[in-house]
Amino acid sequence: MIGGRAVVVLLHSLQLCSCFLFSTASLYNSTDELSILDHTNFTTSLLGSENAWIIEFYNSWCGHCIQFAPTWKLFGKDIRDWQHTIKVGVIDCSVDENNGICREYEVMGYPTMRLFAARTKKGDVGKDTHSRTVEDLSKSVINFLVEQQKANNGSSSWINLQPYQGQIANAWEEVPQSAEHTVIIIDSGDSTVGRSVMMDLGGYSSVAIKYKEASEGDANRYGAVYPIVIYVDHSGKEEVVKNSPTTRKELTEMLMKKFHLQRSMLPYKTPYTGMEDESTKREEVEGGGDGHPEEINSDKLNYEDDLPDTAYTGEKKDQVYMVDIENAVRYAVAHEVVQHKVISGHSLKSLQDFLDILVKYLPMRPAVHNFLTRLHEYTLSQPESIQGETLAEKIKSLQDTDSILPDHQSWIGCQGSSPKYRGYPCGLWTTFHTITVNAVLKDGLSAQFNPKKTLRAIHGFVRDFFGCRYCSEHFQEMYKVDAESSVTVPDDGILWLWRGHNKVNKRLKGDQSEDPQHPKQQFPTRSFCPSCWNGETVNEKEVLTYLKAIYSKGALSLKGTQAILGPMKNRQAKVKGVLEKHRNENLSLKKERYNESLQPLNASWGFNATDISLCVFLYGLSTVIILSVYCVVVIRRRMRRRKFIQMYKEPYVGDQPYLPFTDPFVKGRFSYYILTRCGYHHPQHLASRNLYE
Ligand SMILES: Cc1cc2nc3c(=O)[nH]c(=O)nc-3n(C[C@H](O)[C@H](O)[C@H](O)COP(=O)(O)OP(=O)(O)OC[C@H]3O[C@@H](n4cnc5c(N)ncnc54)[C@H](O)[C@@H]3O)c2cc1C
Ligand SMILES: *[C@@H]1O[C@H](CO)[C@@H](O)[C@H](O)[C@H]1NC(C)=O
Ligand SMILES: *[C@@H]1O[C@H](CO)[C@@H](O)[C@H](O)[C@H]1NC(C)=O
Ligand SMILES: *[C@@H]1O[C@H](CO)[C@@H](O)[C@H](O)[C@H]1NC(C)=O
Repeated sequence: MIGGRAVVVLLHSLQLCSCFLFSTASLYNSTDELSILDHTNFTTSLLGSENAWIIEFYNSWCGHCIQFAPTWKLFGKDIRDWQHTIKVGVIDCSVDENNGICREYEVMGYPTMRLFAARTKKGDVGKDTHSRTVEDLSKSVINFLVEQQKANNGSSSWINLQPYQGQIANAWEEVPQSAEHTVIIIDSGDSTVGRSVMMDLGGYSSVAIKYKEASEGDANRYGAVYPIVIYVDHSGKEEVVKNSPTTRKELTEMLMKKFHLQRSMLPYKTPYTGMEDESTKREEVEGGGDGHPEEINSDKLNYEDDLPDTAYTGEKKDQVYMVDIENAVRYAVAHEVVQHKVISGHSLKSLQDFLDILVKYLPMRPAVHNFLTRLHEYTLSQPESIQGETLAEKIKSLQDTDSILPDHQSWIGCQGSSPKYRGYPCGLWTTFHTITVNAVLKDGLSAQFNPKKTLRAIHGFVRDFFGCRYCSEHFQEMYKVDAESSVTVPDDGILWLWRGHNKVNKRLKGDQSEDPQHPKQQFPTRSFCPSCWNGETVNEKEVLTYLKAIYSKGALSLKGTQAILGPMKNRQAKVKGVLEKHRNENLSLKKERYNESLQPLNASWGFNATDISLCVFLYGLSTVIILSVYCVVVIRRRMRRRKFIQMYKEPYVGDQPYLPFTDPFVKGRFSYYILTRCGYHHPQHLASRNLYE
């Protein structure tokens, strides 16, 4: 029983450890007025819900997602009062745990915005919207809702956006009992202003608003300036608002004022009541900032070797690191590729070709190389198609002591000054350059070597798997222009990629995805390679030499790579991870106590001290067991040897020889051999020793 619990705790701890490795750079937080979804609650929130959803599938490292996040936040705020009918959500597909969901919903590029009707069923992957501004997004929401309601995919909880067909005087018909006021908004069919106002006020039960599509009669009667707002009293008497405003914001404000409505009256507790007062906000900033620098920094010193070294520690800034390459390969293969529901046709070919150049030309640690070789062989053995899910399983099962795809490790060269910067795309560029350079260094002299093949494989991967859709499109355009035509001799492959990368650097200069600590520059800078520059012009020959120097196999730094060890030691590392986490948690708790005084110690810690000590205890216990097994084996062997010596001294039991050899020569030789091996020298044999040597 104890064993059972122990195993559970151990597994639990190992599972947690693997999560510790991923610090995610969510682009949204609780202060944003939208629902942050993840693998634990995406399906439960979406499937069968009465409200519709509009969800952004994003990738925290994708430049366009970083650029788009502020718009999406504004959009969330813009329609925060539409929750009675539709909610806004986000899910980060760069988080490994969410990968299954992003695959299931067949999200192929980021950001992707999807609309879901009410009571969505499993298998319904939603409807894309390509709107990119707050205004367009809310328009597309209205149009979607109208469409769904028409097709009976709405819900009774939704605001009725279908045109009212009755008489204005009968507006009170079918109005909920709670309503104290009834309003008719006449608007033209292609405008969404009137219906947006209805959505804005939909949460207040005291007001019922009906939308009437403008007809010629209305135009004649009320004038053709829409929307027209009409209050209808209980007797059916109309009061037309004179010179009513025509924008959504002004109209909403006017009606709220007229009916004494306030947001605090809204019935639903928004999941994002996060608009807390400024004072708490300020406290947070102080707490999270440098409130107590000594404490944190002194801790860093003690654990220096556990902390990621960053590229800003005064080392050469053009150093290329294996961790960056391994991270990029891991993410590319075990996240991006696997995110596809089905890999077939040209994308299967792309995958096979990409793995082929990785295996052939990318310098790797042997266990990683073994892993990729096996994966490559597996993809070749599947001529038709591979399910993403199957591939994910395969990647797990191909892992062995000598075949490893390392977990995520701390970035070094690609470490950004904040988690949303750099990382994967940087690692991918690094990997591509390393491939083109080492392909030439390895095979460039061979007559069969085709530099186009390497670039084609890179292009195929970017086209079919690189999740940053715009990046991929840009890259394809660039490739189309001159990759095939300008690359002839082996070195051209290296230079084409270098030029292409510099074009991207130029385009992204000053972009929101630019890490302020790592401004986009033309590479190599004058400080990296003085000889590459003659005044304002670049000396390509020197650049080539320089690229070959920094990206060559021998120049890669293995710093920071996590040791590839047998299973036992891995476990040790993982247990250490738990302890580390525990320590960090304590530290942050200590910090919290500074700011907020007396928070319960066990507040957010699903993994208590007992579990940890049990974990450590078990580890100790298993060591003891292994040691005792070892001792038993050794002692047995000794006993056997002693018995043998005994036999030698007294070779007969009664009349029967103890040993099966009767020939004295053979017998002598055999037992001499055995005994000397065991370190025993009988005086008789010592004398005849040279006979056998
Ligand atoms: C194929 C591809 C296309 C992309 N397209 C876009 C896009 O269209 N829009 C967008 O917003 N983002 C795009 N990105 C992402 C973007 O290029 C950067 O990767 C990201 O902004 C991170 O930048 P970084 O500062 O870490 O350096 P990166 O540009 O990622 O560079 C990584 C490292 O490579 C080295 N390096 C830089 N330039 C060169 C060069 N010319 N030759 C050799 N080595 C060099 C440097 O040491 C640098 O630190 C793309 C990424 C890839 C892999
Ligand atoms: C949330 O993100 C904003 C920036 O988008 C930041 O200013 C704020 O401090 C963050 N809040 C929390 C609680 O992390
Ligand atoms: C979903 O779960 C995450 C934590 O796993 C939480 O931060 C988030 O608020 C949850 N979202 C909703 C809508 O419940
Ligand atoms: C731990 O949490 C429980 C309730 O969850 C609380 O009663 C107890 O006081 C807490 N312990 C400490 C040490 O804060």
